[in-house]
Amino acid sequence: MGKIVIFSGAGLSAESGIPTFRDAGGLWEGYRIEDVATPFGWIRNKQLVLDFYEERFLQMQKCKPNAAHLAIADLSSYFDVICITQNIDTLLEQAGVKEVWHLHGRIDYHKCEWHYSIGPIDADWQCDYRAATRSPTQIGDLCPKCNRQLRPDVVWFGEAVDMRTDRLYEIVSQVDAFIGVGTSATVYPAANLLRFFGDVKEKYFIDPNPAYDVLNGFTVIEGTAAQKVPELVAVLKAKYQ
Ligand code: APR
Repeated sequence: MGKIVIFSGAGLSAESGIPTFRDAGGLWEGYRIEDVATPFGWIRNKQLVLDFYEERFLQMQKCKPNAAHLAIADLSSYFDVICITQNIDTLLEQAGVKEVWHLHGRIDYHKCEWHYSIGPIDADWQCDYRAATRSPTQIGDLCPKCNRQLRPDVVWFGEAVDMRTDRLYEIVSQVDAFIGVGTSATVYPAANLLRFFGDVKEKYFIDPNPAYDVLNGFTVIEGTAAQKVPELVAVLKAKYQ
């Protein structure tokens, strides 16, 4: 056993106290997606968007990795683990995982509002500024490169996801096990990724309410991340070490 890909969604961090999006009491029950997570929402009301992400930023600062994050970090000291996550929190990194791809950005980074994903398709008008930030972005925080407003480094609905396609093609044939955890697989590119790794021999999916229609060929484990990820990690370690 060499390479393991772990694909996660909001459910991985639920037991750390970060609400999921689409469960009962999920984040999208309290907000309109169009207002706080689209380029149009940003154009209409930047303060509202920044207030929303300030809340997320402060909330995530208080959260700690749960048993699932820690088990994944443990696994990564025995195997080559690549975490592909839709989560904007950094709990996997805090747990000690080295390779984490954030498909939907990171709450602790900000970028120029004319970053590739929102600017017009005209290279002259785009700005690649993106940097870590210790505090939530405010109106008046300007891009040091081009002086435009900064925005959170979060991928909104309608924006491009950084898929790292070259690397995906490079690794797909080398992956020995694939583990999906805590995602409804409703947002692009989740279902595509599950299909992309379809030929991997060992495929697991952990979720208390799994999206069975996209899990053909998976060993589905019903339960929460903090309960079931450590159990699966123990099984994989025992089997392949
Ligand atoms: N452990 C594991 N899974 C859980 C837990 C838990 N404790 N609690 C809930 N879940 C599962 C739910 O059953 C559901 O399948 O986590 C999943 C959460 O689904 P969503 O709320 O849709 O979150 P996610 O799949 O990450 O959403 C993808 O959508 O709104 C956007 O950008 C946002 O990155 C997010 C994307």
